[in-house]
Amino acid sequence: MKPITVVSPANIAFIKYWGQRDSKQILPYNDSFSMNLSQCVTTVEMVLSDDPKMQQMEIKLWNESAYRKASESQLKSVEVCYQRVRNYLKTTNQFGFHMRSSNRFPMKAGIASSASFFSALTLALVTAFDAQLDTKELSILARLSGSGSACRSIPDGFVWWYAGKDSKSSYAESIAPPDFWDLVDLVLILNTQQKHVGSSEGHQGADSSPYFEARQTALQSTMTNIKEAFLQKDFTRFGTLLEQEAINFSSILMTQQPPLFYWSDKTIMCMKEVLELRRKGIEAYFTIDAGENLHVICQNKDAELLKKHFENMLEVQTVITNEPCAGAHLV
Ligand code: DP6
Repeated sequence: MKPITVVSPANIAFIKYWGQRDSKQILPYNDSFSMNLSQCVTTVEMVLSDDPKMQQMEIKLWNESAYRKASESQLKSVEVCYQRVRNYLKTTNQFGFHMRSSNRFPMKAGIASSASFFSALTLALVTAFDAQLDTKELSILARLSGSGSACRSIPDGFVWWYAGKDSKSSYAESIAPPDFWDLVDLVLILNTQQKHVGSSEGHQGADSSPYFEARQTALQSTMTNIKEAFLQKDFTRFGTLLEQEAINFSSILMTQQPPLFYWSDKTIMCMKEVLELRRKGIEAYFTIDAGENLHVICQNKDAELLKKHFENMLEVQTVITNEPCAGAHLV
């Protein structure tokens, strides 16, 4: 049988999703806004079998040349996803599979590898069940898959995830295609170790931060302002807002119970370097997820120079240059 092959990107949020209003339905407290990352992609290949008991999975990491067997828990999360898609589609069909997943970037190091994987898996499963779903429905299924932010990797380019009132109204849609604005996200890889606490666990403590309500209130105007700055391609205003948001979001992590500290001395040195570059007239802004690695957002015209600059810093292992790109798609 011909394999089903899906490629899907990770995404970087300019406005973060942190905290869940409903942890079963994966409903966030606030809308979030992101860009798909062209060089941080996961490829999922699935060969179907008539034997539903056959469930095999192999994984290849970014720095490995060969596939290795997935762990029990990884296979379990795929099985859960398979059943959820089956229930959603109200189908009695069943199939077995041999699946291969390969990543072009470090897993679980704060570059949303679960978003690229689970969005790819969602599309592969829906295709395997021979169902036709539109982007909105696919994003809802991806939201429920195991990584909420996976829903933002389904649509193309620049994506808005509406928090919504219920499962049907919490979906992601593209607000601009990849070529709308030539922004670049330079991911500075400072550490490729897996992080100590995953996002799913971290979300649970978000509203214990004394600053959580303040962030939610402030986000209402930040949302309007960042969308306006984005649509006007006002880089200074846009960058200032996204950097502030990254710091506000990180303050929640550090003040929730138990607190989460992902930044290292290297992260802070690179953040300071971004500020220093701005003082020198090179416009770039940073953002960061729940991890140590820093994302530097710049315009295409400055990307090459900035990449070289950061590659020369001892703290930086490597720099991944990402442009906005399409969401999950079959190849
Ligand atoms: C900090 O629950 O989607 O990246 O994909 O497993 O990392 P993972 O988790 P998910 O939370 C993502 C939280 C975030 C912010 C964001 O991408 O909006």
